[in-house]
Amino acid sequence: MSAYENLKSRLSQQSHTWLVTGVAGFIGSHLLEELLLLGQTVVGMDNFSTGRQINLDEVEQRVGPEAWQRFTLHRKDIRHPEDCSAVVAGVDYVLHQAALGSVPRSIDDPLTSHESNINGFLNMLIAARDANVKRFVYAASSSTYGDHPGLPKVEDVIGKPLSPYAVTKYVNELYADVFARTYGLEAIGLRYFNVFGPRQDPQGAYAAVIPRWCAQLFEAQACRINGDGETSRDFCFVKNAVQVNLLAATTQNEAAINQIYNVALGDRTSLNELYQGLKKRITPYAPALAGIEPEYADFRGGDVRHSQADISKAKSLLGYEPSHRIDAGLEETVLWFAAQQLQSNV
Ligand SMILES: NC(=O)c1ccc[n+]([C@@H]2O[C@H](COP(=O)([O-])OP(=O)(O)OC[C@H]3O[C@@H](n4cnc5c(N)ncnc54)[C@H](O)[C@@H]3O)[C@@H](O)[C@H]2O)c1
Repeated sequence: MSAYENLKSRLSQQSHTWLVTGVAGFIGSHLLEELLLLGQTVVGMDNFSTGRQINLDEVEQRVGPEAWQRFTLHRKDIRHPEDCSAVVAGVDYVLHQAALGSVPRSIDDPLTSHESNINGFLNMLIAARDANVKRFVYAASSSTYGDHPGLPKVEDVIGKPLSPYAVTKYVNELYADVFARTYGLEAIGLRYFNVFGPRQDPQGAYAAVIPRWCAQLFEAQACRINGDGETSRDFCFVKNAVQVNLLAATTQNEAAINQIYNVALGDRTSLNELYQGLKKRITPYAPALAGIEPEYADFRGGDVRHSQADISKAKSLLGYEPSHRIDAGLEETVLWFAAQQLQSNV
């Protein structure tokens, strides 16, 4: 039995209270869904800046009314210390996801990203410390590797940040480490690498590439590829990220605590390959796509050229075993977009 199967069976026997910040967002809503399905009690916090009520509505529908009763939502903001202390009271585990994502957003408006991603993060750390939570697991980012050219990325070798967003996520790691050493808070940082899946927002200037392209391809619109398309990423299906969060929150392995982990597959997919993979899967729903080619544009500022993770640390210390390779993840994601399309046409 895998470490995760083991954990799920243990959790099903015993209920804990979890705080998921950013619960109405993409990754937060998947954490909520898995925890409720495992019989856990969940307190959620979100200011709905990029989070969406429809994400929560979908989780409610998927878990059913009995499980949904174990969820309490707080429309609160991590930029306010009093909001953080209010939601963390009585919580066992914190899964801190709330932040303003997107490298380009942070380049356009560094101050707003700073306020949520650094001030808000510090507020949450202080609240978690004062509430004596068992563990504080937080969303870090692969952007922390910055300009370091080495591949695959290994946790303890990083470069200089290439964007304000990357600075904020690196500062999170520094603060968490200092809180661990100064106050004994058990903190674990998860450097997500391009997480994707159902419920990721396809709209707006700062949408991630997979949901944006899915939405455009279902409309048989040409997609824009920044650069020559050979830029590559380690795309990670969201269920893999959920697995690492739960393993990190509950591990009893002393060596695994107060560490940073890559959360990815360990694979590399170019944008050209990704485009073809999506087009192949979506063309049956949008036959006009067959004759449409992508448009190539300039490289985007702040983007790294290649990204690929070494995931051996999460495997050996946490027992992480990705459940979904990229193809399986793209299948599930396209099926979800197809269902959305069907609903909007009814
Ligand atoms: N998706 C990825 O590929 C990826 C990669 C690296 C890191 N991350 C990090 O993972 C976390 C979750 O990302 P996501 O993709 O689910 O993004 P998301 O935008 O869907 O979710 C973030 C959530 O945080 C909420 N939020 C933002 N500021 C807040 C504030 N001040 N107070 C309360 N709530 C606030 C938003 O409303 C949203 O619901 C973020 O910390 C992000 O930086 C994501």
